[in-house]
Amino acid sequence: MADEMGLFEVMYNCRAMRRIRPDAVPEDLLLKLVDAANQAPSGSNVQNGRWILVRSREQKERLAELNRKVFEAYVAGNRADALPHQSAEARQRMLGAVRWQAEHFAEIPVLIIACLELGAGPRRDSFSAGAGAGGSIWPGVQNLLLAARALGLAATPTTFAIADRAAAKDVLGLPDTIEPFCLIPVGYPKGNFGPVTRKPVSEIMRWDRWS
Ligand SMILES: Cc1cc2nc3c(=O)[nH]c(=O)nc-3n(C[C@H](O)[C@H](O)[C@H](O)COP(=O)(O)O)c2cc1C
Repeated sequence: MADEMGLFEVMYNCRAMRRIRPDAVPEDLLLKLVDAANQAPSGSNVQNGRWILVRSREQKERLAELNRKVFEAYVAGNRADALPHQSAEARQRMLGAVRWQAEHFAEIPVLIIACLELGAGPRRDSFSAGAGAGGSIWPGVQNLLLAARALGLAATPTTFAIADRAAAKDVLGLPDTIEPFCLIPVGYPKGNFGPVTRKPVSEIMRWDRWS
């Protein structure tokens, strides 16, 4: 059973899965994902994460349009260059998957949008200033990604479709007090799961001080 995977196995095999079958995902599994996300920590335990699960075709078309615009700007820019730790071939494979997702966005069974209820006071100011922005929602996003992987569901954290915040908020009917942070397309994978490839720990950590 996929959901019998151990935590470390899930973490090391939780690749971005962008190619997704159109088959519907049972509602109880979707609720399980949000419940897992909801177990994550938030600053002062304010529990201000909010989640929208978009299944309506009309809504998905709107988000697909927002995603497409930013995707096109992304591929038109220099950001498609290979990175030092990633071969040009691996980069092209990733871009191929990003393109596939952009072209099939509205066919993906559910688009999950992770939001934060920021209210109007100091929390909103800290969000605007960038300090701590998103710190109370990304742990929930990661919980959701891990839960999806454990349940055999494909998922990827994305931001293209919400880059134009005002437009995304309009589509999602979000009030001024709630901000979107991440959109996670979810469904059954078309391809196979596999291990993530990351830099070695020796490259990204130091004991006690950086230098
Ligand atoms: C903050 C953030 C924003 C991202 N935005 C997008 C996005 O808009 N579109 C997309 O296809 N992937 C997006 N990703 C997914 C990353 O490209 C992916 O996690 C990374 O390439 C590692 O992939 P891997 O786990 O398969 O190795 C985003 C990831 C993060 C953490």
